[in-house]
Amino acid sequence: MSKKIKKKKNKKISIILFLLIIICLLTFGYCFYNIYKQKITDKNSIKVIFNNVLETEINSEVYLKDYVKEIVNGKLVNGDEIIDTSKLGIKELNLFIKNKDGNEEKYNFKVTIIDSINPIIDASKELTSYIGNSIDLLKDVKVSDNSNEEINAKVVGEYDINKIGKYELRYEAVDSSGNKSEYDFILNIVSDPSNRTFTTSKGFNGKVVNGITYIDGILIANKTYSLPSSYAPGLQSSIQNAFNKLRNDATSLGYDFYIGSGYRSYWDQKIIYNNYVSWDGQVNADTYSARPGHSEHQSGLAVDVCDSNVEACITSAFDSTEQAKWLNDNCYKYGLIIRYPKGKSNLTGYMYESWHLRYVGEELATKLYNNGDWITVEEYYGIDSKYS
Ligand code: DAL
Ligand code: ZN
Repeated sequence: MSKKIKKKKNKKISIILFLLIIICLLTFGYCFYNIYKQKITDKNSIKVIFNNVLETEINSEVYLKDYVKEIVNGKLVNGDEIIDTSKLGIKELNLFIKNKDGNEEKYNFKVTIIDSINPIIDASKELTSYIGNSIDLLKDVKVSDNSNEEINAKVVGEYDINKIGKYELRYEAVDSSGNKSEYDFILNIVSDPSNRTFTTSKGFNGKVVNGITYIDGILIANKTYSLPSSYAPGLQSSIQNAFNKLRNDATSLGYDFYIGSGYRSYWDQKIIYNNYVSWDGQVNADTYSARPGHSEHQSGLAVDVCDSNVEACITSAFDSTEQAKWLNDNCYKYGLIIRYPKGKSNLTGYMYESWHLRYVGEELATKLYNNGDWITVEEYYGIDSKYS
C-alpha cells in the first residue's frame, strides 16, 4: 500500500471516531438532562399517602381527611367533606389538592362501606301468656341496627301454647351482612285466672268464667273472690221476687220491709268504701265494708233490708229488733240467707250484719240455716274470705 493511501485511510478513521465521540457525548448529555429534569419535577410533584385501611362502617360519620395519612407537595382542599356512608359497597371519592403553584389537582380513591356490627335486640327476659291464647312473640321485640337494611328476626326453640310450662327460647336477629345477635328469654304458659276450674277444700267444683267465680253453680263474692269492675248486672229478679214474697208475708205481722240498699255497681262501692276509710280508717272499714270488686251488692244478688217502722237501718242497732229476729228465722224459706251471721266474722271476713240477705235458692238456704245455727258460705264450701 502506498504512503498516500495509508494516510487517507487514517484520516477517515479519525473522522468516524470523532463523530462517535460526539454522538456519545450528546446521548450522555441528553440522558443526564432528563434525569435531572425528572428529579426537579419529582421534587415538586404532589404525593398522597392513604391510610392502610380504606373501610368504614355503614352510617358512620367520617370525612375525606380521615383516609389521608400524608400529602407531599400539596394541601388538601376538601378534607372536611363528609362521606355518605348510608349504603353498603364501594364508594368512589375525589380529593382536591392544591399544589405549590396554587393549582388544584384531583385524586381519586375508593372506600368500602361495610357492616360488621351486630343488631341490638331489646326485649323482655320473661313473657307470660295464658294457656290456649295465641301469642306473637315478636310483637314487642325491638331490633335496631347500625344499617337501615332489613333485619331478619325470629324465635328459636319449641313451645306449646296449649301446655302449661316454662319454655326457654331465644330471639335471633340477622342483618343483611350476616351479623347475628341472640337473646335468651323465657315464655311462661300459665292457666288463665279469669277462666279456670278448681276444687275447694270441701271437694266442691269451682269455676271462674270471665273473672266471675261460681262454686257448685253459686256466684261467690267475698274478700278472696272478686268481681270484675265491668260486671254490672243490676238487681237480679231472683232476689227481687224472693224479697217481694218475704215482704208480703211479713205485712200480716205488721212489718214494713223495704230494700235499704240493693244493687251497687263497682263504682258505687268504691265511693262508699273510700268514704268509710277516710272516716274510720281502712282497718275498721274492712270489717264492715267491702272493697270495690268484692261486694255481694255488685252481684245483684244481695240486699240490705230495713223496716219503715224501725229507725235503725243498716246499722247494728237493727240487730236487736224483732224484725231482725224474724228475718234471721224465716229468710231461708225464701231462698235468702243471713250472709254474715253472728260470731262468724273470722270466716266471712265481716262483722254480723242482721240486715244483709243474699239469695242462694231455697235448697242451699235451708242447709245453711241449719235450724237456726247459721253455717257460712265459706264454711259450707270450704273457702277463704281474705284479701290477698
Ligand atoms: N257490707 C258488705 C260487707 C258490703 O259492703 O258489701
Ligand atoms: Zn249489704
